[in-house]
Amino acid sequence: MTKPDSDITATKAPVEWDAATYDRIAEPMTRWGGVVLERLQLMGDECVLDAGCGSGRVTEQLCRRLPRGRVIALDRSAAMVTEAQRRLAPYASRTTVLCADLTKPLPLRSVDGVFSTATFHWIHDHEALFAHLAAVLRPGGQLVAQCGGAGNIARVHAAAKAAGVDLEATYFATPDQTERRLKAAGFVDVRCWLQPEPTPLEPGEPFETYLRTVCLRPHLEQLAPSEQPAFLRNVMEQLGEPVIDYVRLNITARRSEIGREA
Ligand SMILES: C[S@@+](CC[C@H](N)C(=O)[O-])C[C@H]1O[C@@H](n2cnc3c(N)ncnc32)[C@H](O)[C@@H]1O
Repeated sequence: MTKPDSDITATKAPVEWDAATYDRIAEPMTRWGGVVLERLQLMGDECVLDAGCGSGRVTEQLCRRLPRGRVIALDRSAAMVTEAQRRLAPYASRTTVLCADLTKPLPLRSVDGVFSTATFHWIHDHEALFAHLAAVLRPGGQLVAQCGGAGNIARVHAAAKAAGVDLEATYFATPDQTERRLKAAGFVDVRCWLQPEPTPLEPGEPFETYLRTVCLRPHLEQLAPSEQPAFLRNVMEQLGEPVIDYVRLNITARRSEIGREA
């Protein structure tokens, strides 16, 4: 695996998710996803890949933008794929839900667009990721994405470290790193920018469930079940206000008409 620019020790995030809980609490991702979706330029008859569809809440919005087109909803978590199949059932005639890994060559034919939200930061090897996406995107096709970027949830990770779990299971790239990697993978018209999104959540149990299901999912995997409640309490006490210091990395690009540039 190519090492990211920053000198972090990459720890693999667990593959599986509590998909039913994620589906219930993913309001911030669904809201941001709707805004990112507006950046896709669509006639309504294209074939678009949702790379890391999760439980399908944003994919559902994508399906509505493609009344005569097709959606390929891809995720590597079997639990998320099952949840997405359930949610996308009304669009089954023009949707394919696939369990596949974005760090490997994708089992797909050419698509007109790639869309992705809240996923790329779960992958450390962005060179491989962008090469696999470029390989399935038709020349001139669009990439529109958003993920965690440099500085994302830094307070949450600092609190987790102080509570005893120091982990880099996610990778929050900068716009410069991402622009360079996208160009090397054969993308043009590349534009990347950061967007701070401090996100208040309901205090108490909803905040704890959110941290457990999303931000601290890899950290909790490192602990015995008996240690997890005290760890979560410790992190919540340090954070005080139930606000997550999200910073999103926006990405728009187009696959070169002539293949790889570099
Ligand atoms: C936070 S969820 C986002 C889901 C959805 N896009 C949304 O915005 O609600 C991140 C998703 O990325 C998926 N994912 C992480 N690494 C992946 C990989 N290597 N290949 C495919 N999917 C991956 C996870 O399984 C998870 O469903």
